[in-house]
Amino acid sequence: MRIVALLSPAVFALASLTTIAQTQAAAQTLQAPSQTAAQTPPMGWNSWNYFAEKVDDKGVRDAADQLVATGMKDAGYIYVNIDDTWQGQRDASGVLHTNTKFPDMKALADYVHSKGLKLGIYSSPGSKTCAGYEGSLGHEAQDAQLYAGWGIDYLKYDLCSFTPDVMEKQAPTDKAAQMRLMEAAYAKMDKALKATGRPIVYSLCQYGWDAVWGWAPSVGGNLWRTTGDITPEWDRIYTIVSQQAGLGSYARPGHWNDPDMLEVGNGKLTLAENRAHFSLWAMLAAPLLAGNDLPNMKPEIKAILTNRDVIAIDQDSLGQQGTRAYSEGEVDVWTRQLAGGALAIAVVNAGDTRYSTHPFFLSLKKLGLHGPQAGKDLWTGNSITLRDGQGFELGGHDVLLVRIDAPK
Ligand code: GLA
Repeated sequence: MRIVALLSPAVFALASLTTIAQTQAAAQTLQAPSQTAAQTPPMGWNSWNYFAEKVDDKGVRDAADQLVATGMKDAGYIYVNIDDTWQGQRDASGVLHTNTKFPDMKALADYVHSKGLKLGIYSSPGSKTCAGYEGSLGHEAQDAQLYAGWGIDYLKYDLCSFTPDVMEKQAPTDKAAQMRLMEAAYAKMDKALKATGRPIVYSLCQYGWDAVWGWAPSVGGNLWRTTGDITPEWDRIYTIVSQQAGLGSYARPGHWNDPDMLEVGNGKLTLAENRAHFSLWAMLAAPLLAGNDLPNMKPEIKAILTNRDVIAIDQDSLGQQGTRAYSEGEVDVWTRQLAGGALAIAVVNAGDTRYSTHPFFLSLKKLGLHGPQAGKDLWTGNSITLRDGQGFELGGHDVLLVRIDAPK
């Protein structure tokens, strides 16, 4: 319905006159959703990182309830995304049904929408998803219509079995041809989603293959995974972060690099690691999809996930992803340009202890800054003035995150 509202009466008049005009009007209808979707990196929750195959209708409703009760919704977390393992079997007409964990997807979508939230779902261009459930191969248009009918607002489309099913079968020895097949599969689902007329955020998940950041926007991708899967371990998180350096120029409003969903609150991550992980995702303009057990979230984890100052860095309207300005010893310094000329600086100690780079002397000169810089330490909430060559003691895997509103 929102798409219809976007079209001017003139478009309707023209469309009724000639076939060409009808085609143009259709093209405008097709373009509208992706123009407005994901103007800032999507925020919400996804079932996979904590619940994996255990996700069910109740768990999703609980997550929606908790997004509201914890204040996460007010902080911007809007999408409630069901990942893999909701799918049942196709009937004789090819219509996909849910499995017994999800008795009524439309009712679930209505429930999530009634909370002012949006519902996301997951599929694969292959015959099977990564967990071996029914994929969309050969049923793309049918599945897109099914999602739209349910009221789905977000699709994560995960390559999985498309590799053996199609790429390796149709082009066994030609890697370039395999990549073209992959790209075509993502374009096919984009077309199917747009044909529904419903704005659906389109999340590409193919682990960064074939420099996806270069072509994802052309197949309608609002976000695209840049790496393999995250795990709740500092080493994995830090490896992923290191792989993001150099990708900044590909991100912009409507189109985001996705270093994978958050592990904040999962596994044995320390508070420092959770803080550093969240800070870095904000610096990277990454989607903020919490992946933890919301009904049992500890207050200190909630405090991290709802830190408005850090979220404001992530959601900054300029949409310019941060870059790693320099590294010294085991410390990395990231900067991110923000709207209105502001600047965010993240100093991350990747070392295991605070003695690994001790103390760390921050060079403002290397950041192109001159003289003392007045800002805010976004984790203490205190004012801070950064001076060139100032020494910092940072705990192992901890972060100093500062916003400077008027850098000099
Ligand atoms: C892949 C994806 C994960 C998750 C699982 C589900 O591994 O990268 O994010 O969706 O599949 O099976």
